[in-house]
Amino acid sequence: MSVAATTSPAVGTLYVSRFPWSRGMPRVTMALRSNVVSVGSILTKLQQDCATPFPVIRHVADSMTADMRAGLAVDGGSNLKMILSYVDSLPSGNEKGLFYALDLGGTNFRALRVQLGGKEERVVATEFEQLSIPQELMFGTSEELFDFIASTLAGFAEKESEKFHLPHGRQREIGFTFSFPVKQTSIDSGILMKWTKGFAVSGTAGRDVVACLNEAMERQGVDMRVSALVNDTVGTLAGARYWDDDVLVAVILGTGTNACYVERTDCIPKLQGPKSSSGRTIINTEWGAFSDGIPLTAFDRDMDAASINPGEQIFEKTISGMYLGEIARRALVSMAEEGSLFGMAVPNKLSTPFALRTPDICAMQQDKSDDLQAVGSILHNVAGVESSLSERRIVLEVCDAIVKRGGRLAGAGIVGILQKMEQDSKGTIFNKRTVVAMDGGLYEHYPQYRSYLQDAVTELLGSETSKNIVIEHSKDGSGIGAALLAATNSNNRLAMMIRFILLQNRQGKTRLAKYYVPLEDSEKHKVEYEFRTHKVIYRRYAGLFFALCVDITDNELAYLECIHLFVEILDHFFSNVCELDLVFNFHKLCLISVSSKVYLILDEFILAGELQETSKRAIIERMGELEKLDCYFLTHLKQASSYFVILQILARNCFFNLSISIAPVSLCLYGVSLCEIFGVFISCSYDIMDVYKQFAIVISCNLLLFQIVLLFQVDAKNLGA
Ligand code: BGC
Repeated sequence: MSVAATTSPAVGTLYVSRFPWSRGMPRVTMALRSNVVSVGSILTKLQQDCATPFPVIRHVADSMTADMRAGLAVDGGSNLKMILSYVDSLPSGNEKGLFYALDLGGTNFRALRVQLGGKEERVVATEFEQLSIPQELMFGTSEELFDFIASTLAGFAEKESEKFHLPHGRQREIGFTFSFPVKQTSIDSGILMKWTKGFAVSGTAGRDVVACLNEAMERQGVDMRVSALVNDTVGTLAGARYWDDDVLVAVILGTGTNACYVERTDCIPKLQGPKSSSGRTIINTEWGAFSDGIPLTAFDRDMDAASINPGEQIFEKTISGMYLGEIARRALVSMAEEGSLFGMAVPNKLSTPFALRTPDICAMQQDKSDDLQAVGSILHNVAGVESSLSERRIVLEVCDAIVKRGGRLAGAGIVGILQKMEQDSKGTIFNKRTVVAMDGGLYEHYPQYRSYLQDAVTELLGSETSKNIVIEHSKDGSGIGAALLAATNSNNRLAMMIRFILLQNRQGKTRLAKYYVPLEDSEKHKVEYEFRTHKVIYRRYAGLFFALCVDITDNELAYLECIHLFVEILDHFFSNVCELDLVFNFHKLCLISVSSKVYLILDEFILAGELQETSKRAIIERMGELEKLDCYFLTHLKQASSYFVILQILARNCFFNLSISIAPVSLCLYGVSLCEIFGVFISCSYDIMDVYKQFAIVISCNLLLFQIVLLFQVDAKNLGA
């Protein structure tokens, strides 16, 4: 409906006819007329403020790209957090077994189990249970929320039917979809940064959410393990990629909104430490926090100010399902207050925040009848108002303006991500089929929203390029994706893995540390009894604490035995090992291994986080072999250097001619000793040392000796001159 129509006298007449008590009262009629004009002007202002013409969506797409780059450069570089998901490899199709998934997102909580049958059978069976999250839990304590999750899971697990099989001796594993901004610290741990979507649970922000769930599962007696912690976008990407290799981006448009995509690791400057072997990783953009260039209305600002997170999640507040209905309600209340829309008094029900929900405005927009009957009854049921046809039309105009802005901005956001990917890998996004997996009720159930989104994508990319970009509703959602990621990262492979070993004195000074998983420096400095989702097992020997970090479910006694064995071996070499032995032998290098003796012993015992050998005798024998090599090497090096010293002295005392004749002799000796050393390495140490080390050492010996020969010759030449 146009503004002209809303200001037409016919509208005024309708008002008068609905309120018979005002009939024949010119003053009231005049007031009504001016009020009706006011409704029109509020609507026009709303439409103008919400408008998203081409330059606006172009700007949003470009800013999104720029913010992504800034967020990848450094943490806090932009509003977009660009969180590393630690998902470096996506499901291949080979995943097999029974896996569980938990999905805590917007309004619902879902528990799901899936039986995976590998490439041939794929998803053999699934079952799920869905509950809406009780309002009080959204504002309660962390324990209450996680106990609710764990007890629902316990009840669900009890109903596991024969379609599902867990191999003997294996623990049930969970992919945990937690749809809030989490700073991941590994694939199975992450710290909650803040709540969004109206949640305000106390005691969780700043904590590892997997640890919270583990504690709750322990309280509820649930014997399961979280193998993957994922955002819902990441779960959606994994789930969609399982079926289609062209999926590179996933977007959630539901209660909240977010997007993730597959990024090249060399395009992530803030990524420190070891890079993934695939050269790719999934980045969770947390685009809900984006804000640059978004057209806002007075109603958005008021809603933001009244929210539990003012000034935050602006993109989310303008495009996602939690807020669209509320923005429309605020606009209608303003029209009712200032323009007497719906009569002289503002209906009470309409004044209640969030009384009008996005599904309501969606349902109203689907009403194609002439008298807009469905619109009328929804307004009656949810807002307690009786409405005329023209009022219903105004309501639809309000909804449309807000939904159009939401859909178009979401489309611009998607283009922002795609163009960033295209810029970094020319032709691999726009010139071929690229799939954006989409999930969330807003996208799924709101046809107008979907078509506004698609329009913006086409406008920005052009009709040709946009044909290659397929926005596809992901059928399985994030649940199966999370279960697949649990399978990919199955902890059973790591069941006995030691995360790190630490030796500290009574003052807490670290005397030896070896980490078998990547940790940030700050984390290395902060070791608690329970570290992430693992536990630290320690034992004190005199003034030294020996600590091992292992999985929370591992057997403590087995690891206490390991510590004892390590101490016994150290004792063997240092007779009654004490702190000083560690300090001195920590810095003393063994020549052949270029490593400290204590580390050498440790490497014979634990390698890559796994226990290599439990026989004290075997370890001592191997250490003996290494020591022999060390002695042999030292003797020969001494021998070789003494040849050169003699030759150098000779050269200093002789004439130039003589020194020239000595040069071949020195080279010959050098060669002999080199061959000897090389021979020893090949014959004695092949099974003990790795080939790379041998070559590195032989080459450095080579260079060292060759330098001595050159020095000698230069010296001789100088003398001769
Ligand atoms: C959260 C995201 C989540 C999105 C969709 C947002 O409020 O911050 O982590 O992916 O909602 O559920």
